[in-house]
Amino acid sequence: MFNVVFVCLGNICRSPMAEAIFSRMVAEEGLSSSFEISSFATSDCEQGNPVYPPAARVLKAKGYTFSHRSKQIGFKEIKNADYILVMDRSNYSSLLSMAGAGYADKIYLLGHFLPQKIAIDDPWYTNDFERTYTEIYASCKAFLDYLKQLHGKALNYDKYE
Ligand code: 4NP
Repeated sequence: MFNVVFVCLGNICRSPMAEAIFSRMVAEEGLSSSFEISSFATSDCEQGNPVYPPAARVLKAKGYTFSHRSKQIGFKEIKNADYILVMDRSNYSSLLSMAGAGYADKIYLLGHFLPQKIAIDDPWYTNDFERTYTEIYASCKAFLDYLKQLHGKALNYDKYE
């Protein structure tokens, strides 16, 4: 079982999009039982709020179903995660200062699984939610390919019992 946690600043745009996209991606590959997938904020600025309507509209238009409220990440989630995937360098440094340097080896920039190593810019400011979707989708696909390469059959352990 791989515990994957997506993190952004507010947990109302990018990280819940990533949670929905990656959850459906692994389901389509029959790998759901190998993953625990969640998303959190570095801040409490949107605590308890639903997915931001423009982000929700993009996901719904593509057939995703989700129910989500913003939650700030805590030490328990950091400790229990196998992979913590942040969207930009600001998320990275906030999380690192919360987590402590001992946890740095499980914190990754999601867009760095792509060869072009992108930051997933905040659509709260860019207002381009389609671009955010495209970047997160491609990055999640690259991350899943990385896991398949690295862990091979362990990703599919249910099927090999
Ligand atoms: P997110 O976007 O980090 O992708 O969820 C934001 C949501 C809210 C705020 C900033 C970014 N805010 O300042 O409230």
